[in-house]
Amino acid sequence: MTKSAPAVLVTGATGGIGRETAARFVREGSRVAIADIGREAVDAFAEELRAEFAGADVLPLVLDQSSVASVEAAVEEVRAWSGQLHTLAVVAGVLQAEGVPVTRLPVEEFERVHAVNLKGPFILAKYFIPLIPTDGTGSIVMVASYWGREAHPLYAAYCTSKAGVISLVQVLAGELAEEGIRVNGVAPGNTNTRMHQKHLHDEAEELGITFEEMRDTHWSTIPMRYAGEPHVISDAIYFLASDQASYITGATLDVNGGVVMT
Ligand SMILES: NC(=O)c1ccc[n+]([C@@H]2O[C@H](COP(=O)([O-])OP(=O)(O)OC[C@H]3O[C@@H](n4cnc5c(N)ncnc54)[C@H](O)[C@@H]3O)[C@@H](O)[C@H]2O)c1
Repeated sequence: MTKSAPAVLVTGATGGIGRETAARFVREGSRVAIADIGREAVDAFAEELRAEFAGADVLPLVLDQSSVASVEAAVEEVRAWSGQLHTLAVVAGVLQAEGVPVTRLPVEEFERVHAVNLKGPFILAKYFIPLIPTDGTGSIVMVASYWGREAHPLYAAYCTSKAGVISLVQVLAGELAEEGIRVNGVAPGNTNTRMHQKHLHDEAEELGITFEEMRDTHWSTIPMRYAGEPHVISDAIYFLASDQASYITGATLDVNGGVVMT
């Protein structure tokens, strides 16, 4: 891989959607910084990618996207590794610990979710924008959620954080359009990852039914009748970062099997 290959940073890179996203960019010939909170997981994933894709230039990064100090340190590591960043893919996110009405939702839980899901994308953009080229090759893609499109009772922290991401994408797109940096979002529907499975598991436990019963009930509410595999989201992220999307900015693309139509 040459130094001139585009450099990409993926946060939440050891999660379900993050892994697919990082692997997709590596497969397409990019140099990829894989960032997540756990040292062991990022190192192990870097080794997997290097084993699967000979010559892959992969930078394992320990990054907590809710922390300014951690993001600033990551900026320095990426600067030393590649000098610039063509694609910032903000994939990391956390789900609210449990579904409860606002009157029972601890302020600390609201702040925890917002710190990762909304403050994180803001901090990442703030500190990484100076590394993004202004010749039309740079872009930012942020992962929101269909719960940011259509609010879901009992999930005030998660829904508002993801609605905020859709707004942040539009604000940044407006600020950076003249500099040739595009900013877009992807709003996944139910995606078959650890996060989705944990949610189904918790709901099943609360209702006293099996995981399979909960999954079947839940999936029957999706017009396409199944949860998407993680690659359907990484395909959208890759598309939005590519030249194929050269005139798309400020958009958030729904990839959700028809569960919300905007
Ligand atoms: N799975 C779904 O059904 C679904 C639906 C809509 C939106 N999303 C969104 O898609 C994104 C990816 O979710 P996923 O399903 O792959 O979940 P996942 O739980 O498999 O992965 C999330 C990753 O984010 C990392 N992470 C958590 N906090 C972090 C922090 N502070 N800094 C850096 N990394 C951190 C986790 O370690 C994990 O690897 C999230 O933003 C999520 O909200 C998922």
